[in-house]
Amino acid sequence: MRFILLVIICLLAQLALPGPSFAEESSKIELSDPQTQGGMPLMQALKERQSTREFSSRPLSQEVLSDLLWAAFGINRPDSGKRTAPSARNWQEMDIYVVMEDRSYIYYPQEHSLEVAAEGDLRAYTGRQDFAAKAPLNLVLVADTTRMTGVSEEDTGFYKGADAGFISQNIYLFCASQGLATVVRANIDRDLLGKALNLEEHQRIVLAQSVGYPAGYVQEF
Ligand SMILES: Cc1cc2nc3c(=O)[nH]c(=O)nc-3n(C[C@H](O)[C@H](O)[C@H](O)COP(=O)(O)O)c2cc1C
Repeated sequence: MRFILLVIICLLAQLALPGPSFAEESSKIELSDPQTQGGMPLMQALKERQSTREFSSRPLSQEVLSDLLWAAFGINRPDSGKRTAPSARNWQEMDIYVVMEDRSYIYYPQEHSLEVAAEGDLRAYTGRQDFAAKAPLNLVLVADTTRMTGVSEEDTGFYKGADAGFISQNIYLFCASQGLATVVRANIDRDLLGKALNLEEHQRIVLAQSVGYPAGYVQEF
């Protein structure tokens, strides 16, 4: 009888445990399937879209991060592997780096997963403005120039800027729809951040975007 009680308690304790935390030891995190239904009507999200530079320190849940990354540049047509944002020549050259308090990750859209890119808190490196270090999440849009084939070096600048812009607007609209604060940023020390994120020469930082709950956020129950 005691043994059965012990087993029941163990099972209940397992159920009560939260999902894997961002601080878990594994270098890979499989994100939960994104919620791709519902949300705020598009016209309302457009009405609410804005830049906000004051953030609460409240972290984002893994579910919100999963939905955010899918909305930003996830795969919305699995048959073709095409994405929620367009890209010139379908290069899909933009990688999203996810910079959080404990670690930084790279987002893999095919597996909808994260892999550790660097250890430690690199948020302050993602921008020259103080709030970057306080926002719980900074997304860094990094172009892999080896995927940008068939155009002149001069034109790659234009294309990667345009491609990053679409992703940024997806992030803005997702944040508007979820009541999250966000601001896109070009004011970045790219050399410093590139070294901190262990980027290679062919990887170019285009934009960063801070995301979090707005300052003064009070959780509703
Ligand atoms: C390409 C680009 C770069 C930006 N860089 C920064 C930046 O480095 N820091 C910042 O605080 N805001 C930055 N912004 C946000 C703009 O300042 C903001 O979009 C503008 O003031 C309009 O405000 P709104 O987004 O609320 O409409 C940037 C916006 C864009 C499109």
